[in-house]
Amino acid sequence: MNPAGKTAVVFGGTSGIGLATVERLAAAGARVIAVSRNPDRAKELVPDGVELAACDTTDPESVAALCARIAPIDMLINCATGGGRAVGPFLKMDMDGYQGSFAKLWGYANTVRFGGEHLSPEASIVLVTGSPAQRAKPGQTALASVGGAVEAFVRALAPELAPRRINAVSPGMTDTPMFGPDSDDKRKLMENATANHLLKRAIEPGEVADAIVMVATNDMMTGGAINVDGGWILGG
Ligand SMILES: NC(=O)c1ccc[n+]([C@@H]2O[C@H](COP(=O)([O-])OP(=O)(O)OC[C@H]3O[C@@H](n4cnc5c(N)ncnc54)[C@H](OP(=O)(O)O)[C@@H]3O)[C@@H](O)[C@H]2O)c1
Repeated sequence: MNPAGKTAVVFGGTSGIGLATVERLAAAGARVIAVSRNPDRAKELVPDGVELAACDTTDPESVAALCARIAPIDMLINCATGGGRAVGPFLKMDMDGYQGSFAKLWGYANTVRFGGEHLSPEASIVLVTGSPAQRAKPGQTALASVGGAVEAFVRALAPELAPRRINAVSPGMTDTPMFGPDSDDKRKLMENATANHLLKRAIEPGEVADAIVMVATNDMMTGGAINVDGGWILGG
């Protein structure tokens, strides 16, 4: 698919990996709608011509209304974290926190369910999962559970959606605002978290966005999960 002139909606497109994806798709000539709960914070960040839209992915009616308004959709991309993330030992975990981590999955499901009614015939969907789905570090049971569910969701849906396509992109430790503003503490966190990876630095959001655009536009990729993990999974 040539993205020029195509309609791309990026849920979670106002920060981090989603914002980098918005920048790339806009540069490639797509009509881009960047979506989040509070999109105004990205007014100064998104390229000219990108539409900002407010929508909570966990609200099915809001997702359905947005997708109907912008249809037909050629690329539906979801990078929205959805809500909180529970980390720490599972046997001490607050179960509301564990369940709350699944807001990401509910948000992804809403956008595919209701966006799916408004896809163009050659459309593709990309959902962002994460390395813990394939190799969890201690304390990442909730992240692994959600990511594993997203990857199973993608594999299960691919046959039903064909000839439209759906894929997951799975980043490792990526330097985004999810970990707070730039600071010495954040740099240390990134260094420590990647010390045992094959490639010993955090991933840039644009390096994940490149993979998202690649799978969104490659007409023969469906049902898969592409790792951009800096060697997390094969590292120690
Ligand atoms: N960074 C990493 O190391 C890493 C690693 C593995 C996987 N991931 C995954 O990659 C994806 C992107 O993460 P990121 O690091 O780029 O995060 P980020 O910089 O915090 O951006 C998250 C985006 O999601 C939006 N969002 C969150 N909840 C939403 C909701 N309920 N409805 C609509 N929009 C919502 C946020 O905007 P609002 O707050 O305005 O809604 C923001 O635009 C996430 O799925 C994350 O789990 C990240």
